[in-house]
Amino acid sequence: MSISDGRPVLAVASECAPMVKTGGLADVVGALPMALAPQGWAIRTLLPGYRSVLAAFPRARVLADLPDLLGLPARLLGVSRGALDLLILDAPALYDRDGSPYLDENGQDWPDNDVRFAALSLAAARIARDGVGDWRPELVHLHDWQAGFVPIYLDQLGVNLPTVLTIHNIAFHGLTSADRMARLELSPARFNVNGFEYFGQVSALKAGLVGATAINTVSPTYAQELTTPDYGMGLDGVIRARAADMSGILNGIDTDTWDPVRDPAIQWYRLPSGKAANARLLRQEYGLDDGAGPLSIVVSRLSDQKGLDLLLAALPDYLAAGGQLALLGSGDARLEQAWRAAADANPGQVGVRIGYDEALSHRMYAGGDAVLVPSRFEPCGLTQMYGLRYGAVPVVARTGGLADTVIDANAAALAAGVATGILHASHSVSALAHALQRLCALHADTATFRRIQKNAMKHPVGWDASAPLYGALYSRLVDERTISQ
Ligand code: ADP
Ligand code: GLC
Repeated sequence: MSISDGRPVLAVASECAPMVKTGGLADVVGALPMALAPQGWAIRTLLPGYRSVLAAFPRARVLADLPDLLGLPARLLGVSRGALDLLILDAPALYDRDGSPYLDENGQDWPDNDVRFAALSLAAARIARDGVGDWRPELVHLHDWQAGFVPIYLDQLGVNLPTVLTIHNIAFHGLTSADRMARLELSPARFNVNGFEYFGQVSALKAGLVGATAINTVSPTYAQELTTPDYGMGLDGVIRARAADMSGILNGIDTDTWDPVRDPAIQWYRLPSGKAANARLLRQEYGLDDGAGPLSIVVSRLSDQKGLDLLLAALPDYLAAGGQLALLGSGDARLEQAWRAAADANPGQVGVRIGYDEALSHRMYAGGDAVLVPSRFEPCGLTQMYGLRYGAVPVVARTGGLADTVIDANAAALAAGVATGILHASHSVSALAHALQRLCALHADTATFRRIQKNAMKHPVGWDASAPLYGALYSRLVDERTISQ
């Protein structure tokens, strides 16, 4: 079956790998169309026409004009690449600029982010109403706050279509001040506690949470955590109110892009036996000494969420036990500085690359003995799954999707031959330090460690289990809407 044969779905997102990526959202948005095609769904993905996206597709076709999109000229372009069928919102005043999707060159939020992503949502609603040629979606799949206003605009346009909002990270609310409602063409009728009002401001995420037909997040444990004040970030009450429509569907990874057997970015394909050879290259690349202890890697945004300040505190004990660390990341300037300082203070033991480098990340999963993910919270997390697939044993905080994807190497799991990694309490330097001691001890027991690596590499991390759950959710929503009409 070709991808375009399925039932039509419009996905709306601010990132999509490989064209534009700042984190796991892009990987998931990029992988879902391929994953859902066998379930009978054909996803077209609406993306902002960032400068980098337009540059990647100079021959994209013009599909439609979208005149007066929040007062600005815009067009809709179309292009296909592999399993991806993209609709690109070409609105130069909003997206034709250097910098990241969300931040300017100085690392500040673009001041017009509210208009930029409200325009994306309004464009989606107009596409849902008017279709593109004879293509009309049966359902709209919204990703994170950047698509949060879609249900409101659909309502304002009088369109009755089911919507799913996937929460990838509740930390980002898409807030703007109430006096921007007119600029965003949002009816003030919904500016109340049951609508998109959030402590006197306008919240795009809350608009989606209250307005979408169904909500899901990217792991069962995070779905549970989101109902609590500790994790709900001020929206746990809204989530609890929608408990009947809320689910947790674990992310998968794209096992073609992340395939240790034919990954063009890596040197030695036979893992885990080729691990030592890949590790040697990685040590060279990072200027690390030869070492008998584990070589751990971190590939991460440097933000409070990821707990890498806790790792800095646990580092001395780990290094004293013979461990080494290679880190690739960027983000918070203070963390970047602290990690540079850690590398300077521990030459040959700690290597740090500040930046974003997709190919290097593949080499790191291939060469790392362990991948460390000490997050304070983690909706799903993909890096531990790349680690599993490449035999880099995950050492992860017991939270969100990390808890759902890693089986701790406790005595029972080792005896049963099912252990795939190490879990530790989140938010705790001592628990993390203890987990790293366990890593060093397990690594020293070569046969046991090899068994854990093999279990890890066998652990299913693709979309086989979760794609049918999304398919069933889509079917239920479309069928319910048809019956109620
Ligand atoms: P999040 O989306 O919260 O950042 P995930 O674990 O879901 O966390 O996804 C992170 C994705 O971004 C992974 O694909 C990871 O390999 C990638 N990534 C993060 N930082 C970097 C970096 N500095 N260089 C290359 N890839 C990175
Ligand atoms: C978010 C989360 C991460 C998740 C990703 C994809 O960025 O922080 O845990 O894996 O989205 O859903």
